[in-house]
Amino acid sequence: MGTRVFVDCDPGIDDAVALAYLAARSDVEIAGVGAVFGNNGVERTSDNALRLLELYGRADTPVAVGASRPLVQRPRSARAVHGGNGLGDVELPAPAGAPVAESAAELLVRLARETPGALDVLAVGPLTNLGLALRLEPDLPTLVRRLVVMGGAVRAPGNTGTHAEANVANDPEAAEAVFAAGFDLDLVALDVTMRTVATAAWLDELKGVPGERAERTSAFLDFYADFYSGVFGVRQCAMHDPLAAAVLLDPHLVTESLHTPIRVELSGTLTRGMTVADLRPRPRRDDRRPARVVTGVSGTEFLSRMLDALR
Ligand code: RIB
Ligand code: CA
Repeated sequence: MGTRVFVDCDPGIDDAVALAYLAARSDVEIAGVGAVFGNNGVERTSDNALRLLELYGRADTPVAVGASRPLVQRPRSARAVHGGNGLGDVELPAPAGAPVAESAAELLVRLARETPGALDVLAVGPLTNLGLALRLEPDLPTLVRRLVVMGGAVRAPGNTGTHAEANVANDPEAAEAVFAAGFDLDLVALDVTMRTVATAAWLDELKGVPGERAERTSAFLDFYADFYSGVFGVRQCAMHDPLAAAVLLDPHLVTESLHTPIRVELSGTLTRGMTVADLRPRPRRDDRRPARVVTGVSGTEFLSRMLDALR
């Protein structure tokens, strides 16, 4: 039995690498892709999704344009991390295909209703499309098998400001609605993604892999590693979104997790967008369904699988 997955993303360099990971698996059906604002505007992230799916051999995947802005606040920019075109200023051929007429939220709801309990969802951008999908279909958490979100920072510092992670901070209201909805939820947060990095040696090994998929992905990561080298002080880069994709497909990679309800700070002057968990020895009773917060993975195995996906 393979995996049927809907990907909601804001490509975005690490989103691109996540799509490469999924596309390389013959047992994975990418039933649809929703694009959302975040690393760039939604017109650009939609176009990038089409170009990436053609690059990675999944040109037949429906791509739907999603939200162009958060539910409440104004969008932020991430051009320093992902470049002006969202892909490290690497040019891919113009897409042969075009987005479907449905919105990302409508596509997700339709696909979930078609196979109740069998569709997995990977969300690696701001959660606005999922928030809108919940408004269309409040029973979405029962129609979806699993939801894996790249987002949040539970016992780790933020990456957009001191306490908030970018996907959650880009639309805190949507994230709070998603975390409250009752999904079977895995949260792949900065706690683990900032400790599971593509090292300089790994990036160099990728440069030795022939073929357009590897060559273009290596070029994306050159830009991304330039940014993250400034964050880490050595040449390496976080692999946020591909790690979330790997957790969805290969849960055995998870070596440590927390099981706790997750809430989002919506009104904090300094902490808006922060993901909050009650990690006290005796946490208060909570009616919110707990999430599995992934705090440890087999990084070596993940990076090996990631490289294999690009061979
Ligand atoms: O905080 C990292 C997340 O924000 C990743 O998904 C990255 O692509 C951006 O969307
Ligand atoms: Ca992303």
